[in-house]
Amino acid sequence: MEKILVLDFGGQYDQLIARRVRDLGVYAQIRRYNKVTTEQIEEEGYKGIIFTGGPNSVYEKDSPSFDKRIFGLKIPVLGICYGAQLMAHLCGGKVISAEDSSEYGSTRVYVKEELLFKGVKNESVCWMSHTDYISQVPAGFEILARSDKCPCAAMGDPSRKLYAVQFHPEVTHTECGRQIFSNFLFDICGCKGDWRMDDFVSSSIEKYRKELKGKKVLLALSGGVDSSVAAVLLHKAIGNDLTCVFVDHGLLRKGEAQQVEELFKNRFGLHLIRVDAKERFLKKLKGVKEPEVKRKIIGEEFVRVFEEEAKKIGDVDVLVQGTIYPDVIESGKGDSATIKSHHNVGGLPEDMSFKTVCEPLRDLFKDEVRKAGIQLGIPEKMVFRQPFPGPGLAVRILGGITKEKLDILKEADAVFTSELEAAGLEEKASQYFAVLTDSRAVGVKGDARSYGYTVALRAVTTDDFMTAKITRIPYELLERIATRICNEVKDVSCVVYDITSKPPGTIEWE
Ligand code: XMP
Repeated sequence: MEKILVLDFGGQYDQLIARRVRDLGVYAQIRRYNKVTTEQIEEEGYKGIIFTGGPNSVYEKDSPSFDKRIFGLKIPVLGICYGAQLMAHLCGGKVISAEDSSEYGSTRVYVKEELLFKGVKNESVCWMSHTDYISQVPAGFEILARSDKCPCAAMGDPSRKLYAVQFHPEVTHTECGRQIFSNFLFDICGCKGDWRMDDFVSSSIEKYRKELKGKKVLLALSGGVDSSVAAVLLHKAIGNDLTCVFVDHGLLRKGEAQQVEELFKNRFGLHLIRVDAKERFLKKLKGVKEPEVKRKIIGEEFVRVFEEEAKKIGDVDVLVQGTIYPDVIESGKGDSATIKSHHNVGGLPEDMSFKTVCEPLRDLFKDEVRKAGIQLGIPEKMVFRQPFPGPGLAVRILGGITKEKLDILKEADAVFTSELEAAGLEEKASQYFAVLTDSRAVGVKGDARSYGYTVALRAVTTDDFMTAKITRIPYELLERIATRICNEVKDVSCVVYDITSKPPGTIEWE
């Protein structure tokens, strides 16, 4: 399978780079600059390499760098922004601070006629974001583009197939970005562009069949899309050498634990162990109010439960996780700031006692995971279900968690979601759920005064979950839902609808 390496130097847009490449039918794999060697790159037979942007200055001590022998592998390289400067720096050119000539945003760039810019207008709008620039290109390179402020907006050494652009072809504001990627992939790297999701599925099955042969493998099945796809994929690769452990921590929605067991054990025939850990999690979470502490506790307890199950099975040496690419970014594993620690990445205890962790979906975006799920025969209803956070209802109960509060939330959530679905609004709302706040409100039930909890309803419409708008639910429906929740769920006397977009809000309350 032809593939491109996206070498990640900590840029904000590196997932977009992989996106653009895959959209053109070429598989792109993202790897951190310090997690791969020149030898491995050569061995793995990449058709091309893209250096991403990054927040550092190449001339500073300890800035991310790479072994310069990479330029001698005869594999085409495209450097972007920091990646462009790094190429210049490593090949003997000069990079200096742009000071007053820094450029941010839409910038007019004038390009030369060259293979990388085939089909690109001589004067083209590109997206720039840089505080340094290449003041002197290395020997063998020529300047291929300039802007009004930047003398070298692109450079190249066509004989060695080394190219660099100061601007960001991966963002849509760069009008010829797609054309530039297409030129690099097809004309410079010689790719065919015949990669499809079924290639990923079949080559992954092959790969793990070989790699995990004879090993006892344990997978943490949460019932979410990611771990479900990982489970079915690995089951196809190694059959019953895969044991799935489903931890019923009691923080799932109403009826969910039974549905997971039914689908994977009975329908797919997976070797599934359901562990009843409800009491155990409640005990650990008792009195804990701080959301990030809840996440860490849950992440840690998960692994402890797996370890115990692993010991019972004996000889387990690989732990599989359904981590996908945005989890890695959001947990600050790149150099981006930590937003919320997703329990399946950030919260893993350091003394975890599995020899290896295997993450088959680590390079995929959500929609690609879904495509893989369909390819693997997982029902659409399951594959297109709304996201549910790993720490589950624990981050939807504000303040301390008790069994009583969990029961209230499960019932209220079931009323809300079933009403929304009955009204056909689940197509419009990307994620919808109830939150149990820690405020109480006075109400009247029958003729008596009640003093119950306030439940907040949240429904958002979004493509990428990075930004979101509230879903416009008709007032009549909201009214009916509020009445039903107050009537049917014990101890609730007030229902509110959250009307905050993201940003400034986030989707979850904690
Ligand atoms: P926020 O609240 O950050 O949520 O706007 C964005 C998306 O991420 C999900 N989310 C989580 N998923 N563990 C997860 O696996 C978590 O701790 C977590 N926190 C938020 C959230 O449901 C939404 O889809």
